[in-house]
Amino acid sequence: MVTDAIQALHDGGKKINAGFIIGPIPMMKFTSRLMDKLGMEPHASLNPIMLDGTGMCGCCRVTVDGQVKFACVDGPMFPSKTIDFDELMRRTSEYKPLEKESLEKYQHEKGHVCKCGLH
Ligand code: FES
Repeated sequence: MVTDAIQALHDGGKKINAGFIIGPIPMMKFTSRLMDKLGMEPHASLNPIMLDGTGMCGCCRVTVDGQVKFACVDGPMFPSKTIDFDELMRRTSEYKPLEKESLEKYQHEKGHVCKCGLH
C-alpha cells in the first residue's frame, strides 16, 4: 500500500514536503489524509466523469475547501486535504448500474467477450 510506503519513509527520517497523488479515489483519500497528518502538502489529480471539458456541463463538479470546482478547467490537480472525496466517490459511481446494464446488453447483442479482465 502506498500509505505504508509513505509512513515507512517518514518513520525512516525522510523529509517529504509535498506529494502528488494519482489513482483510485479511495487510495487518494487515505493517502491525502496520511500525508496531511504527517505534515506534508498533498495534492491529488482528480478524474471525475467529464463530458465537454470546458466548464459548461458541470459533470466534473468537485467540492474543494467547501467551494464548487470543475476538474476540467480548475484542475485536475487540487490541494487534496480539503477535497470532499466521499462526494466524489458517490458522483463517480452514479452511473455504475447503467454502465453494467449497457455492458451486459452489448456483450449479449454483439457476442463480444471482453478480454481485458476488468469485467
Ligand atoms: S467536463 Fe463539463 S464542466 Fe468539466
